[in-house]
Amino acid sequence: MIEQINLQNVPQHVAIIMDGNGRWAKQQGLDRLFGHSQGVESVRDTLKTARELGIKYLTLYAFSTENWNRPKSEIDGLMDLLIEAVTHELMELNNNGVRLLTIGDLNALPENCQKSLSDAIQKTSNNKDITLVLALNYSSQSEITSAIKNIIADNNSGKITIDEINPELIDTYLYTKDIPDPELLIRTSGERRVSNFLLWQIAYAEFHFTSVFWPDFRRQHLLEAIIDFQQRERRFGMTSDQINKA
Ligand code: IPE
Ligand code: IPE
Ligand code: MG
Repeated sequence: MIEQINLQNVPQHVAIIMDGNGRWAKQQGLDRLFGHSQGVESVRDTLKTARELGIKYLTLYAFSTENWNRPKSEIDGLMDLLIEAVTHELMELNNNGVRLLTIGDLNALPENCQKSLSDAIQKTSNNKDITLVLALNYSSQSEITSAIKNIIADNNSGKITIDEINPELIDTYLYTKDIPDPELLIRTSGERRVSNFLLWQIAYAEFHFTSVFWPDFRRQHLLEAIIDFQQRERRFGMTSDQINKA
């Protein structure tokens, strides 16, 4: 399948809403947490494939701010899994040139979680092949709200004028300030919604929906998504003729 991919036109940044762990587990009569832990294998495979394809940023929606509304046992299980995965995979990340970053409000995560994340972020900070961005306690509306607050504060203190506020400046107030916008957003499990993910940053992203549950998502599914992406004509408001002349 990889022969069908034009390696010159691979998105620089792919974002994924990893969905369907619970339904995957339920389907086989297992606890939801089995689905989450199986999902780690999908992360591994997807990261490996993304790196091979030359994708520079892979953002994974791992825990939304709304996910705090789940049963405590599931939240605790997810946090434990996160610590375990980050700790276990650290060497692998370094061996493969993976730099780890996070977006979201990490302060609300358990302390040991924050610690293993900041340790991994620091130890992978010089890696250059691909950046893995984990969205944790992430809410796009909260991100934009805090950007607005900080812009107003900087305006009040005289650091910026109202005339200086434009989309590029707003970018610099977001968690993603050093990350290019995703060109491709994938959501698994058949749901077709954005669930408060990267609302500002996906202004011109292409969407790819697949019915595959996240624990079953593998290399071939990422390749399918890239092939789908490469068949789109990205017009950015222009006409097809204009794009084809360029
Ligand atoms: C995605 O799978 C993982 C997280 C949101 C943490 P779900 O847990 O949402 O699985 P479903 O959607 O209930 O099947
Ligand atoms: C979105 O999935 C969040 C993550 C994948 C972490 P959800 O399963 O929480 O989304 P909704 O509630 O179905 O929209
Ligand atoms: Mg879900």
